[in-house]
Amino acid sequence: MDRFSTDRLTAERLREDHLDDLVTLHLNAEVSRYLGGVRAPEVTKTYLATNMAHWDQHGFGLWVLRTKDGAFAGRAGIRHILVDDIDEIEIAYAFKREFWGRGFASEVAIALTDIGLSHHELPSLIGLVYVSNGASRRVLEKANYILEKSTTRHGNDVVIYRARR
Ligand SMILES: CC(C)(COP(=O)(O)OP(=O)(O)OC[C@H]1O[C@@H](n2cnc3c(N)ncnc32)[C@H](O)[C@@H]1OP(=O)(O)O)[C@@H](O)C(=O)NCCC(=O)NCCS
Repeated sequence: MDRFSTDRLTAERLREDHLDDLVTLHLNAEVSRYLGGVRAPEVTKTYLATNMAHWDQHGFGLWVLRTKDGAFAGRAGIRHILVDDIDEIEIAYAFKREFWGRGFASEVAIALTDIGLSHHELPSLIGLVYVSNGASRRVLEKANYILEKSTTRHGNDVVIYRARR
């Protein structure tokens, strides 16, 4: 599914020419606070290549999100992640600061969860969130994810939520 739409957003499969928008997004300190910190352009270039390869290998991955007038709003998707040596599929989302607080993340999280569980028939999806990222935790709860456990990842306290088919 290279493209999909929600009520207010359009999503397009990650491409090479999304680099500039992603570099700008990842250089924002507020956006990157719970994403491991700001990323230098070279790091985002590698990130883009890795996530495009994920699409080629698995048939799903990250999408770039735009408002209906075509403005870059952020990126979101579903992708493989190793958690305590278990291959899981996580839901991920990040929006430009100016788009926070309008319900966009909840809208896209609900759509992505349906794509993962119904379209791709995955048994479950997880959300892996810093304990203190209250907004993201709320987004997962609104998309019907259930709190499963607390753990640490790269030295940070995180919580794992899960949605099942
Ligand atoms: C997390 C993020 C995606 C949320 O996006 P958003 O579009 O503002 O989210 P929504 O508007 O759909 O929903 C946010 C919910 O969290 C609530 N919220 C906001 N800040 C909160 C906080 N500090 N603590 C608890 N809840 C909070 C909002 O009130 C809203 O809930 P409501 O609809 O019941 O009122 C956005 O802040 C972001 O891009 N952050 C940077 C990247 C990131 O952290 N991604 C997640 C990594 S796991």
